[in-house]
This record gives sequence, C-alpha cells and structure tokens, in this order.
Amino acid sequence: MISVERLQKNYTVFQRRGLTRKRKIIRALQDISFTVKRGEFLGYIGPNGAGKSTTIKILTGIMTPDSGQVRVNNMTPYRERRKYVRGIGVVFGQKTQLWWDLPVKDTYALLKEIYAVPKDTFNRQLKTLREYLTLDEIIEQPVRQLSLGQRMRAELGAAMIHDPDILFLDEPTIGLDVISKQKVLEFLKVLHETGKTIFLTTHDLKDIETLCEEVLVINSGTLVYKGKLQGLRDMARLPKTLRAKLAENSPSPDIAINGSLAKYNLRHDPASGSIHVELEGSSNHALVVKELMQNLDIVDFRITDPSIEEIVRYIYTNKMPSNCG
Ligand SMILES: Nc1ncnc2c1ncn2[C@@H]1O[C@H](COP(=O)(O)OP(=O)(O)OP(=O)(O)O)[C@@H](O)[C@H]1O
Ligand SMILES: [Mg+2]
Repeated sequence: MISVERLQKNYTVFQRRGLTRKRKIIRALQDISFTVKRGEFLGYIGPNGAGKSTTIKILTGIMTPDSGQVRVNNMTPYRERRKYVRGIGVVFGQKTQLWWDLPVKDTYALLKEIYAVPKDTFNRQLKTLREYLTLDEIIEQPVRQLSLGQRMRAELGAAMIHDPDILFLDEPTIGLDVISKQKVLEFLKVLHETGKTIFLTTHDLKDIETLCEEVLVINSGTLVYKGKLQGLRDMARLPKTLRAKLAENSPSPDIAINGSLAKYNLRHDPASGSIHVELEGSSNHALVVKELMQNLDIVDFRITDPSIEEIVRYIYTNKMPSNCG
C-alpha cells in the first residue's frame, strides 16, 4: 500500500555569521526505504529532528523529495496530488486543517466539496464520526472556541470525512490530557479494526505499545529499525531487572553487595528498601535469586523487561546496530 525507496531530502538553511550568511545543508532524510502493507498500523518513532514530519510531508504529497521513489495507493503523492488526497486522511497535531472562524460542520461541508464526496457517503461517515468522536457537543462551534482535545477530535473527523483508506497522523495526541487521549486512541483502534492503514508518529511510546504491531525507527535521517515491537526488544538485548524487596528490619545489604554478591550488577535503593539486579541475557535467573536469598533477607521479588522507553533511549544514542540494510 505504501512503498518508499531510497528517499532523500535536504533542506538548505542560511546561518548568519557576522556580516556574512553561510549556507548549510541539512540532510533530513538520507536513504529511506520501507513498505507498509494494507491494514497495517505502523508506529513511526524517532527523536526530535529525526525526519518524521519530513517523511509524512512527502508521503502526503505536501513536499517533493530530492530523490527516491514513493508510491502510495498506486500513485506518486506529489505528482497526482488532487486525485491522491481523496484516498488519504491527514492530521498534523501541531497545525489545523479546520477553518478557524467557521463551525466545525462548515469545514466538513467544505471538505465534502473539495474531495467530491458523494452525499450518502458523507452523511453515513458524519453519523459514524459524530458517535465515535462525540462530535455533537462541538460540531456547531467555531474552531477557535474549541479546547485542544475537542479540536483534535474535530481534526480526526475532518481527516476521515471522505472515508479514506489510509490515515497519516503526525503527533495527533500532543498536549492532550489522559481522557482526551484515550478517546483518540480508541477511535484509532476502531479505524484499524475496520481495515484502515494507519501511519502514526508520536513521542508517546505507550501509545505505540497499545496500538502498533509494526514500528519504524528513524534517527538522524536514517532508518535504524523496521519490524515488530518485540523484535526491537530482542535486538536491543538490554538486561531484565530483578527487583527484590528487603524485609523491614533487614540489616543493610551493603556488606553482601560488596562481598559475596559483588559479581552481580547490583544496586541498593534504601528509599524503597529494595535492591535491583541487572540480569544479563546469559545469566541463570534462578541461581541469582537463590544466591540473593542466601545472603539477604528478602520478602518479595519480581523480574521486569526493560521498558520501551529504556530501549528507545538506548537506540537514540546510536548504540544499536541497524536492521535496515
Ligand atoms: N522547512 C525546513 N527548513 C529547514 N530545515 C528543516 C525544515 N523542516 C525540517 N527541517 C530540519 O530537518 C530535520 C528533520 O526535521 P523533521 O521536522 O522532519 O523532524 P521530526 O522527526 O518530525 O522532529 P520532531 O519530533 O521534533 O517533530 C531537522 O534537522 C529540522 O531542523
Ligand atoms: Mg515532527
């Protein structure tokens, strides 16, 4: 459904140095290739300035790449823009596509004309969107009067009013409170269940964990990972953590930590009365637990996987080799 091959995009910026201006090339996308299948929910993640919005601008036909091939819905977005936009929906969380001074429903009516949406499709879609995005309370209001959460629901409605098959979302939950965000995420889930292809950029990794099967990680204009979220965990090979709670009157574990347990990467956290051990992949976890029990007064313990935040932080610091060729 989406195919991107060897995409490159540079920006030229001018920096003032005293009286002269110096030209500088920013290599926003260096050599990006990937595909997205129909019906996939893809999470596109990367640190600030990595090139995510630039990719989405090219995929939605707003921007032309310097080189490379892009095909979406069997079209080249920036070449067949008028026809192309009828089959896609777009939300840029930082911008609005709604007319600021018009009631939401008037923007929708304008979009109906722009996309040449048949009347019954429009009515059916509007009914569904009103329900799923609880638009009734806001649809008569001018956009400038809406709160951020209300506006984002209206934006999603605008992106879906012509019932496109693909949705591009660039940080659609930015700045939303937990409840507004939940509404947006539930709506995206429903869209995915009805077979839509969704391309989502967000800095919220919890959203990615909840929604996306596939992830694409970009760093400094280069893709570093494409695949399942679980695969990212496996590739990063970060240690699991064992957290053991010490008995309330337990003597300080520092002697054991520096003595018989010194071979482990072990940390005492006096505030929570617990100790943390980094479990390397090769370690025999049962043996570690046994040795801890022999040396310390432990009442409870649990072993946790590294959080997705830890994994992504690790990748962003360029420590993980790429699996993208
Ligand atoms: N219009 C522009 N002119 C010049 N440089 C730009 C322009 N837009 C983006 N850039 C630069 O290109 C690089 C990629 O920017 P982009 O907006 O695609 O990043 P991003 O991954 O979306 O980041 P963020 O998470 O902060 O939104 C950055 O170095 C940015 O400064
Ligand atoms: Mg961006």
